[in-house]
Amino acid sequence: MTSRPHQAGIKRALSHVGGSVDTEGDAGPAKSLAHALDVTGAEGPERHKLADEAEETSKEEEIDRAHVHGFHAYPARMHPVTAARLVTAFAPEGGVVLDPFCGSGTVLVESLIAGRDALGTDLNPLAVRLARAKTAPRDEDARRALISAAASVRAIADERRKTRAGATKRYDKEDAAMFDPHVLLELDSLRAGSFAQTDPNLRADLLLVLSAILVKVSRRRSDTATRTEQKRIAAGYTAKLFLRKAEDLARRSAAFEALLPSQVRGPRPRARVRDDDATRLSTLKDACADVIVTSPPYAATYDYLTHHAMRLRWLELDSKGLEDRELGPRRRYNAMSGPEAESAWVDELSRFFSAAARVVRPKGAVIVLIADSSSNGHALRGEVLAAAAAHEAGLRPLARASQQRPDFHDQRAFASAPRREHALYFQRR
Ligand SMILES: C[S@@+](CC[C@H](N)C(=O)[O-])C[C@H]1O[C@@H](n2cnc3c(N)ncnc32)[C@H](O)[C@@H]1O
Repeated sequence: MTSRPHQAGIKRALSHVGGSVDTEGDAGPAKSLAHALDVTGAEGPERHKLADEAEETSKEEEIDRAHVHGFHAYPARMHPVTAARLVTAFAPEGGVVLDPFCGSGTVLVESLIAGRDALGTDLNPLAVRLARAKTAPRDEDARRALISAAASVRAIADERRKTRAGATKRYDKEDAAMFDPHVLLELDSLRAGSFAQTDPNLRADLLLVLSAILVKVSRRRSDTATRTEQKRIAAGYTAKLFLRKAEDLARRSAAFEALLPSQVRGPRPRARVRDDDATRLSTLKDACADVIVTSPPYAATYDYLTHHAMRLRWLELDSKGLEDRELGPRRRYNAMSGPEAESAWVDELSRFFSAAARVVRPKGAVIVLIADSSSNGHALRGEVLAAAAAHEAGLRPLARASQQRPDFHDQRAFASAPRREHALYFQRR
């Protein structure tokens, strides 16, 4: 990549971030990357804390939580505006956009809105369920059926509460510690009622609705919080919240459908979401995607298996793949020295880039959003390590944009140069 700093026409970065966007490489794509990065709204844990818990929202958070984006919390979601700008700048109209680390499906949702077909994979079965539910076509009948199914489940839960029915199964000590006893009983009824639903799509939706309220009625603040706190929750509130959340999903789904391109001009763009490892992509054919737009996990920062343990358990989702092959999880990286973490991260990223180079078409773009992180006081510079990994996989770096981000990591690691987030453009040869 040639070093060609480019600042013209790029807005100053956000006040809470305080840095400008710097770019290098081909000017046109670099400008598009910079535009995509430069979105008001914090990034990282702070952003998700806000997004998941804030009662009052800023304009940016409103966009972040608009229609299906705001249905269910997910750690380290991409900002929808960033996703939309990357898709429209780099994916041909009517083309296929792949996000191999699709998480909650932000890129897939924005691809459909932009009239592109979407393909997503993730190793986290909760992400696969969520991305499917958010991108699924739901007409008025389907939305009504969802609300009616949720109302029936709520009615059963209310009835069981009034008749003081016991739990339908034994709960372990983690659940006893996480919920007040009366909340646990209501959740138990909602869980049993959701699993009893015979229509598989409705069952999946109801279980996601349950997942969406789990943390709210638990003694934890968010997926990533470690401490617990007392919350006063009235009898019947949990079941009422369940129905409200199902109504909310139906409403959000309708608002999303209304944003899709007019179907007079062609069929509704479609999304397919699969359970797959981004370092293999074994469910995908060679050259099946026109462009890849994705954000891998932050190295040594999150731990999706741990963050989602409670939700995965309640939804009876198999987390073996995530347990064995999650990329960059804190539980594994914490045990490494800084240099060991760096070489492990390059190795994991290069396996991802090799798989990406196989499934994107020749000359297709691989756009990666990646932030600096740290391991034991050692900075893991996203753009440097991703460039090394992409080089090993035979991808050509064409452009980069970077913007300073708050240092929620380790001040030692970022003493010499600030922590940044990067949007990187590589091309398959
Ligand atoms: C930064 S998040 C992506 C968030 C997503 N862009 C969104 O807006 O919700 C990274 C994702 O990578 C997934 N992941 C971790 N290791 C993986 C692997 N080996 N293969 C596929 N996905 C993986 C995690 O489950 C997580 O959903």
